[in-house]
Amino acid sequence: MDRKYRLKIREATMEDCYDMWIWRNRPAVRKWCFDAKKISYKSHKEWFGKAHNDKYVRIYIVENVKKEKIGTVRFKIKINRQNCAYLSVYLNSLFLGKGFGHRIVKKATDFFLKEKEGVTHIIAEVFEDNIASQRVFEKASYVLVKRMTKQNKKIKVFMYERGYGFGY
Ligand SMILES: CC(C)(COP(=O)(O)OP(=O)(O)OC[C@H]1O[C@@H](n2cnc3c(N)ncnc32)[C@H](O)[C@@H]1OP(=O)(O)O)[C@@H](O)C(=O)NCCC(=O)NCCS
Repeated sequence: MDRKYRLKIREATMEDCYDMWIWRNRPAVRKWCFDAKKISYKSHKEWFGKAHNDKYVRIYIVENVKKEKIGTVRFKIKINRQNCAYLSVYLNSLFLGKGFGHRIVKKATDFFLKEKEGVTHIIAEVFEDNIASQRVFEKASYVLVKRMTKQNKKIKVFMYERGYGFGY
């Protein structure tokens, strides 16, 4: 792949906390979150600090070769079923709608599964009307496994099974 399109992934640090807060509070991201309210920086910082130190949580930042941050992917391992993790993704609004979504999800999925060898299944819950996100998960080799209602929202559940996808 042409170098200018290459993406790099790394663990998020406290230095990413503010950028993530800005992206998370954009209406284009909030509208697809179960909690769609604006989040104060204080509470975001507290959340980030806890999540960063939680052995069941991994937060990654994906950047391009210019070190511009494209977006973030978070995985949360289920405490009572540690072979399974939940994924959440959102992009820096400057990079929305440019086809980065599936590349970021693939890259992060691969990276996370290498880090956490005990995890075999990754789950993503997507609002039924969030078409871009559904396309992203399909293109990243996630499979629709269930439709359900959660917190009064109709959602589709996508799953990635270790060894199933094409790798990246
Ligand atoms: C979901 C998200 C990661 C998608 O990434 P993206 O790079 O912006 O996605 P795109 O806008 O390029 O759209 C992805 C695909 O869906 C298609 N698409 C988008 N909206 C569509 C619509 N309304 N109808 C049909 N197709 C649509 C695009 O054409 C594209 O298809 P392609 O890959 O075949 O070209 C990004 O929009 C985001 O961060 N959203 C907010 C948070 C979120 O929804 N997270 C998911 C829940 S975990």
